[in-house]
Amino acid sequence: MSDTKPVSAAVIVGGSGAIAQALAAKWATDPALSVYVLSRSEIELSGARTMVTDYSDSSLARIATDIASTGISLSRMVVTNGMLSNDSVRPERKVGDLSADNFEAIMSINALLPMRAIAAFWALIRQSEMPRIAVLSARVGSLGDNKLGGWYSYRASKAALNMMMKCAAIEVRRSNKQAKMIVYHPGTVDSSLSKPFQRSVPEGKLFTPDFSAAQLIDILNQAEADGELAYLDWAGETIPW
Ligand SMILES: NC(=O)c1ccc[n+]([C@@H]2O[C@H](COP(=O)([O-])OP(=O)(O)OC[C@H]3O[C@@H](n4cnc5c(N)ncnc54)[C@H](OP(=O)(O)O)[C@@H]3O)[C@@H](O)[C@H]2O)c1
Repeated sequence: MSDTKPVSAAVIVGGSGAIAQALAAKWATDPALSVYVLSRSEIELSGARTMVTDYSDSSLARIATDIASTGISLSRMVVTNGMLSNDSVRPERKVGDLSADNFEAIMSINALLPMRAIAAFWALIRQSEMPRIAVLSARVGSLGDNKLGGWYSYRASKAALNMMMKCAAIEVRRSNKQAKMIVYHPGTVDSSLSKPFQRSVPEGKLFTPDFSAAQLIDILNQAEADGELAYLDWAGETIPW
């Protein structure tokens, strides 16, 4: 055990996910960080404080208030929540596959939930020294990069998330010039989200959660506050909007 007292907080939302767990495991070894992991489920993570939430506004606000009351600065926040498919939802292949219920579910989890989480922590983001805030987006949310079509709702949800993060980046630079917002494409990562779609992934292009989390940590550590939203992939390359 190190005697070093944590100097800042790192918050991970969507903590049961593969990328989130890899991120938490890495940050938990950093004695300068107090790591908080929010999830719908009870999870055990050595070196991190896990907090169960139903992601209601009231629950998120309570957690953010608890963390703020420690007086600690928020240096890192990563929101990882995302859904591509489940037993009843399949990504659309054609426009006729669109369903209002599925669209609303995907939008709510992939676009609105991350922004509600950021809203709950907004006061801390505004007040903290050099906060680095990332949400897990995806390259398929890029209009410029869309060459294959399909996956209407998932693509739209990530594009909507990117737009709302752009608004947040503009808003935060008025009150905290040291803040930096990033929308991150982790690559195709071996997780339950990608599992049903891994067959078409080229050899060597399916990353481990560990690799993608390490890349994100480096990107966050190197990010400079320039008042702009960055849309970056795992290699740190900018993705066209
Ligand atoms: N894996 C890839 O290839 C890939 C590629 C591009 C982008 N991404 C993005 O990266 C992020 C993390 O993906 P992952 O691969 O780590 O996926 P994962 O292991 O399936 O984790 C998904 C996370 O989303 C949350 N989530 C799922 N359904 C939810 C629901 N109904 N309500 C609230 N939260 C829900 C879960 O949070 P709880 O802990 O609260 O359950 C879980 O932690 C996602 O946003 C995904 O879109 C992944």
